[in-house]
Amino acid sequence: MKTVLVTGACGFIGSHFVRALQGHTTYRVVNLDKLTYAGDLARLDDLNDHDRYRFVRGDIADPEVVDTVFQQEAPWAVVNFAAETHVDRSILDSAPFLKTNVDGLQVLLEAARRNGVARFVQISTDEVYGDLSDGDRSSEEAPLRPSSPYAASKAAADLLCLAYRRTYGVPSLLARSSNNYGPWQFPEKLIPLMIGNAIGGRMLPVYGDGSQRRDWLHVTDNCRAILLLLERGEAGAVYNIAATEQRTNLEVIRAVCAMLVDQGVLSAQQALMRIRFVADRPGHDKRYDMDTSRIRGELGWFPRIRFDEGIRHTVLWYLEHREWIGRTTQGDFADYYEAVYANNWGRGS
Ligand code: NAD
Ligand code: TYD
Repeated sequence: MKTVLVTGACGFIGSHFVRALQGHTTYRVVNLDKLTYAGDLARLDDLNDHDRYRFVRGDIADPEVVDTVFQQEAPWAVVNFAAETHVDRSILDSAPFLKTNVDGLQVLLEAARRNGVARFVQISTDEVYGDLSDGDRSSEEAPLRPSSPYAASKAAADLLCLAYRRTYGVPSLLARSSNNYGPWQFPEKLIPLMIGNAIGGRMLPVYGDGSQRRDWLHVTDNCRAILLLLERGEAGAVYNIAATEQRTNLEVIRAVCAMLVDQGVLSAQQALMRIRFVADRPGHDKRYDMDTSRIRGELGWFPRIRFDEGIRHTVLWYLEHREWIGRTTQGDFADYYEAVYANNWGRGS
């Protein structure tokens, strides 16, 4: 039986990917996760006794931990989701981003080089391309122009993967996706933050004027794409993954509010009153847009979940899991929230 080492699978996308592996393949999964503030065992709770699943708590930046996992498990492939992922946190402190996203990846690539793997899928992001003017679109060959420390750390990781492929023959490939959404996303990101704030009676903070545009990809569509890349992606290649569902932030917030009004969480009047335009994120990217013809043409992938349907399902999921939002936003989250939203990007914190 082939073993796939999935790192960071106690996080949002990685946990969905493990479910895709369990449901659609016969691979054994080893999940290596440090359990940072963003990791939660509850996301994969039901798999604990599964014979094709093992959880190892550990840091991808610790060579001893990674070597031990490789010795014990001899993984056939690696899919690296482990990362510090939130742009706003990278603005407050970039150090953990470089440690995990760059140093951690280097440790994994070294282990893959020494032990040999058939595939190394690095999970990347559209943010490495930086923002675009109206009408522009990034192909996989577009230059990397990251704006935030988070995006810069992911761009560095991409380049390191491609260098390990060229220099040592590590069969790495890159999956660059747009903004994911769906159940189990940590409530610091736009959509779950809005839902959590609406439930908690707090304001709905829009950075700047809310005109920034993102492409919104349902997490299960992204995981189907990553599974295809694991099995049929070409080593050394880069693949853009997007839903072609572009929305301004204000449109997304209004769509979430409409659902919340529909479900009786807010009145229409309250929804209007709660939307608050706050200080813009420093270096805020205006717009991303990726050309996805490679993955569509070469692998026949296309998104199945339209935004209107996905957002409806997502809001309902969060309303049914209010206690999870409450639990994950206890403790340190209050300090983070205050630094960004009360003290304007850490000033005065
Ligand atoms: P997440 O923040 O929900 O989860 C990250 C996981 O990685 C957590 O379980 C955390 O405990 C673990 N982790 C962090 N540092 C670690 C370390 N040093 N060693 C081991 N585990 C560690 O992240 P996510 O949103 O699921 O994103 C997963 C990947 O997808 C990341 O690489 C991210 O850059 C990329 N990505 C995310 C999005 C998005 O919209 N969320 C879009 C494009 C790309
Ligand atoms: P986010 O979910 O942090 O993802 P990313 O920065 O990786 O795209 O943010 C999505 C968009 O929403 C981004 O343009 C910033 C904006 N945003 C707000 O306007 N208010 C908020 O409170 C948050 C968290 C994000």
